[in-house]
Amino acid sequence: MTPSEGLLVRRIREGTVIDHIPAGRALAVLRILGITGREGLRVAVVMNVESRRLGRKDIVKVEGRHLSSEEVNRIALIAPSATINIVKGYQVIEKKRVKLPSVIEGIVACTNPTCITRKPREPLRPRFRILAERPLQLQCTYCGTIIDEEDVLEQLEEAGEE
Ligand code: CTP
Ligand code: ZN
Repeated sequence: MTPSEGLLVRRIREGTVIDHIPAGRALAVLRILGITGREGLRVAVVMNVESRRLGRKDIVKVEGRHLSSEEVNRIALIAPSATINIVKGYQVIEKKRVKLPSVIEGIVACTNPTCITRKPREPLRPRFRILAERPLQLQCTYCGTIIDEEDVLEQLEEAGEE
């Protein structure tokens, strides 16, 4: 734990700490997990603190919630450097790295307005194949449109404004 983090938030008893998030992306991580704050979970968001590995980083602590492996892997879309710490009885009992799946479904929308996934009547669940990880490139499995990390971040930000 960095000294600056210690000044900001205490350790949690039980839950998940998502550490080593690229600086400024903590809110996007919460949106990927669908955590709005209205669930009543205790959540700590720490942004732009010093990190030996990354220079600056964000941290998200969610008390009383454990993440599925699908959720963990979705985080890799925008925070491939993240570490997932499972905390029980104040101890880190497991540390996992995030890993991008080969196909990602339902989080990002296709940017092509005529894509079949955007038909107003019978929209299909958007589905992308991972073409490249760094920099991120996703390809719509229906129309072939390629979207990048900036598109994903923008969409997550817009979702927060609704
Ligand atoms: N943490 C927490 N509550 C706990 C235990 C740990 O909030 N009861 C947080 C720490 O503040 C840190 C992260 O979980 O942000 C990982 O904890 P730990 O493994 O103890 O820290 P480091 O050894 O620094 O982790 P790493 O090597 O992954 O950087
Ligand atoms: Zn498409």
